[in-house]
Amino acid sequence: MKVAVLGYGTVGVGVYEMLKAAKGLEAGPVLVRPGKENEAFKVSSIEKITEDPSVDAVAEVMGGVEPAFTYAMAAIRAGKHFVTSNKALVAAKGVELNRAAKEAGVSFLFSAACGGGVPFLHNLARAAQTDEILSVGGILNGTTNFMLDQMQSTGKDYAAALKEAQELGYAEADPTADVTGLDALRKIMLACAVAWGVLPQDGLLNEGIDSLSAADVKDFMARGRVCRLVASGQRAADGRISAYVEPVLVRAGDAESAVLKNYNMARYEGKNAGPIAMIGQGAGRYPTASAVLRDLSGICAGEAAMFPADCVDGSADNSAAKHAYYVRLPKACGDLFPAAEILADNGEELRILTEEISVQKMHESAAALRKAGHAVFFAAVREA
Ligand code: HSE
Repeated sequence: MKVAVLGYGTVGVGVYEMLKAAKGLEAGPVLVRPGKENEAFKVSSIEKITEDPSVDAVAEVMGGVEPAFTYAMAAIRAGKHFVTSNKALVAAKGVELNRAAKEAGVSFLFSAACGGGVPFLHNLARAAQTDEILSVGGILNGTTNFMLDQMQSTGKDYAAALKEAQELGYAEADPTADVTGLDALRKIMLACAVAWGVLPQDGLLNEGIDSLSAADVKDFMARGRVCRLVASGQRAADGRISAYVEPVLVRAGDAESAVLKNYNMARYEGKNAGPIAMIGQGAGRYPTASAVLRDLSGICAGEAAMFPADCVDGSADNSAAKHAYYVRLPKACGDLFPAAEILADNGEELRILTEEISVQKMHESAAALRKAGHAVFFAAVREA
């Protein structure tokens, strides 16, 4: 199967290199920006790919919704299988792409868009066909996991840890989506759609680690806690789906605390299978490229889709989710949350442990405080 590649950045180079060595796959043209066609295999117009009858499949690793969506639809309508690592694209347009691919009789797979090299969505899609999936989630962003691990194990500050994650090729071109939790949110959106056939487009909540300081990390360590950015997706018995991302203070012995560097821990719970967790590199050139290649080889073996055929866009409802939270906030705003314990009070700032409160209230209150110019950090506290 001859594969054209859209994009020649960190992941694109990895995909092209792996294609040249892969059994049953052949490297085709690579789409680059006009003016960058400095080698024979590079082209700068999508038509050179969609109108090339020798190309069987297109692997998109450019990122962003446009022009990736326009190129994806052109490829699918031209009868090419379509594989992508692009979370933003699938989170925004996945239902439309799924429908178009089904109509055109081609495959649409996106393993690399959730979990990097971890074979999560492929296995989740298989499990969803025969088991009832109760929940999905885990550590789904390699950049922030790398940063949290570095801040904890070396005492690095936030800016130095981010710079290193960027240099290692883990972060998005603009790392805002990584550090604000949006990248992990897009991934949990995909997992929800694979598990339950509903791609939530609104009602979602994401809190990242962009308010975290080195002093917070020291404080967590002194309390025997480890901070991880965790995505949660759950379907209630009445069919409502909750989906959110937030920092969580796990216990030092919890599985997440052992997930280091750029690793992800993606998990689902099946009614019959019970809890399943998969750990592996969640970001980086070759881990991500390996997931793209796995999808391409899956197509050769007849794998057609990850979303159910009738997958629809829908909404998340986080109104029932509740946790106790660790909150750092100005003392003047201290009575906003019911405090179970005041952990520290330096006269200006408080660190409190709240009673169990609604996830929605926590996220919305933090956003309101920030809008009013206050510094806030919060993290859910895993039960002792
Ligand atoms: N920026 C993403 C991450 C890349 O750090 O997880 C893999 O999706």
